[in-house]
Parts: sequence; C-alpha cells; structure tokens
Amino acid sequence: MTATTWLITGANRGCGLAYVKLLLAQQSTTVVAAVRKPPLSEGLQSMQQAHGDRLKVVSLEATSAESVEAAAAEVGRDIGALDYIVNNAGIIGTGELDFGVATEDQAAEPLESIERCFSVNTLGPLLVTRAFLPLLLKGNKKTVVNISSGSGVVTWRQQAAAASEPAPIVFKHGIGYAMSKAALQMQTAALGAQLKEHGLIFISMDPGWMDTGLGRQGGKICDLFKLRGDPPSAEDSAQGQIEVISGLTPADNGKFLNFHGEPNPF
Ligand SMILES: NC(=O)c1ccc[n+]([C@@H]2O[C@H](COP(=O)([O-])OP(=O)(O)OC[C@H]3O[C@@H](n4cnc5c(N)ncnc54)[C@H](OP(=O)(O)O)[C@@H]3O)[C@@H](O)[C@H]2O)c1
Repeated sequence: MTATTWLITGANRGCGLAYVKLLLAQQSTTVVAAVRKPPLSEGLQSMQQAHGDRLKVVSLEATSAESVEAAAAEVGRDIGALDYIVNNAGIIGTGELDFGVATEDQAAEPLESIERCFSVNTLGPLLVTRAFLPLLLKGNKKTVVNISSGSGVVTWRQQAAAASEPAPIVFKHGIGYAMSKAALQMQTAALGAQLKEHGLIFISMDPGWMDTGLGRQGGKICDLFKLRGDPPSAEDSAQGQIEVISGLTPADNGKFLNFHGEPNPF
C-alpha cells in the first residue's frame, strides 16, 4: 500500500478521532491530528503513546487565520507534505440548542449561532485549505475532503418546500447549520474548478448520522432521528469515508458523495 499523509481537523473526538484511529491502523499512513486545545482527549492520548512515530498532534482553531497558519508552518517544518486534508471540524450551533426544542420558528436560532456555524463550518475549511495548500501540492494525492451534511442539500429542502404535506421536523431547525453546509458544497465545487489544473481533487462528504456529540445534539431535536433508533458509530461511517476517499479519481472532483460513495444532489 502506498504511504500517505493525512491532516484531520477536529481530531480529538467524534468522527475526527475515528479517522485517526482507522488511519493509524493502516501501517503505511502518517496522520496529523489537528485539535483545538490541550489537554488531548483520552483516545488521542492513547494513540499518541501507541503510534507516536506516525501521529503528529497540532493545535488548530479553525476560526483563527493565525492559528491555522501557525499549524501549517509547523506541519511544513516537521512533515513537509500532505496527501489528504479532511476538513472535519464542525458545529451544529451554539448554546444549548434551545432553538431546536421549539416549534416551527426558524427565526428562533440566534444570529450569533448562525454566524458561528458559518465561521466554523464554511470559513474554517477555507482557511485550512488555503494555509495547507503548499503542502498538499507537494503530496501525491492532492485531495481535500470537506465533511458536510445531508442538512446542506438544497434539493431536498426544495422538495420539502414544494410538497403538499408539512416538512419533516428535521427541516424545521438548524438553519445556520444547513446554510453553512450548503455554502461548503459551493466552496468544494468552486475550488475544484479553480484548482484542477494543479492536479487537486476536492469533494464534499456526507458522513450520515453518527453517534457523536454533534449527532446526539441533532438527534435530540429531530423526531425523524428518534424514529431511526440509535445512530451508527462514527467508526462505521469513517471506515466507509476512508474507502471512498482512497478510491477518488479526477472525475470525482467537485462532487458531493456520501460515505457509501453515492452522489448527493446539490
Ligand atoms: N454526527 C453527525 O450525525 C453528523 C452528520 C452529518 C455531518 N456531520 C459532520 O461531521 C463532522 C464531524 O462532526 P462530529 O459528529 O464528529 O462532531 P463532534 O463529535 O461534535 O466533534 C466536532 C469536532 O469539531 C471540533 N471543532 C469544533 N469547533 C472547532 C473550531 N472552531 N476549531 C477547531 N475544531 C473545532 C471539535 O473540537 P472540540 O472538542 O475542541 O470542541 C471536535 O473535535 C462535522 O463537520 C459535522 O458537521 C456530523
């Protein structure tokens, strides 16, 4: 298997941590785990003990250009090149998500929460991709994966809007999250078109509903999710995502794929 180097943001828990664990289980991978702040989660600490030679932990706050650039400089110095960037860090909103408990009042989500969603979920990946681009260009795979969400599929909202029956509860909450992820899809396609001459591949990835902090927050507010029972593990999703990502070709540039490799609409 070819040796590859991956940068994973939001790597201390949830889906990001599952990526780190699964990638390190492959003998040929090096992982840069980007986390917001110490102390490291228990999971990451034990992986550092077991795989210190193939795991570099770097501090990265996705909303701060200064922090992201410092992380890129450190990785450039210590590792030199990257094959894959996985922009995984994300939030569903701020506070206790009271907006989710409510009603049909979309306006109940505070503006501050909506702005924070854009800052972390949309601008964060852009800052990271820009800062680490020189390292990606030195790598072989030259691939950026923006972890998005089915919440960001505009087509599904349009269908719900045009349908005669009421929209599912899942579509009545989290407008900041939905808008920030829809914009992320555009970022993927736009950068894919702008930079393909350099051999870069950009995709958006829909990981599905996962048993994580964020997934539980979402489930708490969505009757649809409650009906589905317990969410699948982050590891099951991450396993599928890694397989899909490892098989990408230039023909996939700009696509929005789910963790089975199937295309989502825009
Ligand atoms: N879980 C689901 O059902 C689901 C469904 C669709 C899409 N997704 C997407 O999957 C991705 C991973 O989510 P998850 O479910 O694993 O969530 P999670 O368990 O809540 O983890 C989120 C990660 O993002 C990090 N993060 C948050 N804000 C950050 C910031 N400003 N700078 C840097 N890191 C930051 C967190 O770090 P801290 O620990 O420091 O807060 C944490 O490591 C997200 O992009 C999410 O939108 C999840």
